[in-house]
Amino acid sequence: MQEFTHDAPPGREQAVTDEVVASFAGAPDDRLREIVQSLTRHLHAFAREVRLTEREWAAGIEFLTGAGHITDDKRQEFVLLSDVLGLSMLTVAINAPAAPEATESTVFGPFFVEGAPEVPLGGDIAQGAKGVPCWVSGSVRSTDGSPLAGARIDVWEADEDGFYDVQYAGDRTAGRGRLRAGAGGEYRFWSVRPSPYPIPDDGPVGRLLAATGRGPMRPAHLHLRVEAPGHRTLVTHIFVAGDPYLDRDAVFGVKDDLVVEFAEHPPGTGPDGRELDTPWASARFDIVLEALE
Ligand code: BEZ
Ligand code: FE
Repeated sequence: MQEFTHDAPPGREQAVTDEVVASFAGAPDDRLREIVQSLTRHLHAFAREVRLTEREWAAGIEFLTGAGHITDDKRQEFVLLSDVLGLSMLTVAINAPAAPEATESTVFGPFFVEGAPEVPLGGDIAQGAKGVPCWVSGSVRSTDGSPLAGARIDVWEADEDGFYDVQYAGDRTAGRGRLRAGAGGEYRFWSVRPSPYPIPDDGPVGRLLAATGRGPMRPAHLHLRVEAPGHRTLVTHIFVAGDPYLDRDAVFGVKDDLVVEFAEHPPGTGPDGRELDTPWASARFDIVLEALE
């Protein structure tokens, strides 16, 4: 009687990998060929390392199918998957600016929306988002120190309940806006003090986190995308110092240089003369964009 061992003969396994890699050899685009051949090698090595069973791979396909079914124009489960696997932050690290003075980047996340309202300098991006009023200011400069007048700054954030506007029913825009830096590269706006929140965890990615004993929380943050001609576009966050989730961000996005003190103020007059009848907060964050040759 033939004896079956757990491991198939390594030669037979390698032959499958070799055949698939060779099948891509004729890809006319060099970069595409490099990527699909490398992907094949690494995927096959993974399956061999864990001795993937057919049942497990069927569960994997079911997981990916579930991610596809829950994805629509407002919910992007594949971005979440990339984020919780650290692939988003690894890609950020691989493509990080060479200049050490440049502001560090972090994950883009799934909640950016094109076409956010233009807000004048000193304007309020909250637009009804719930939370403690928060004054954010700073400057945008190039790596040589020169101010980047007119730099475009997109800002977006969750409200104090931890939800972005797009997570609510209806089309209300709140907690997001687009500003232009002033003549000296300065910027300032009102928003709400960021709050920690869970990434959407009612789908396959949430079930993966639960099954592996990981949490869905992100530390409080405000998203920024900053663009200026001749400079590398920066995608980053401002994190709040003291947040309990700074050392366990579900998507690994925290970098020390992005953590900022948010000052607390009693009711009174804000820095722009606004009268506040509630406590408010403020933070300063200076931005340096890497000049491209
Ligand atoms: C966010 O910060 O908006 C975010 C990032 C990654 C996954 C989910 C949300
Ligand atoms: Fe966020």
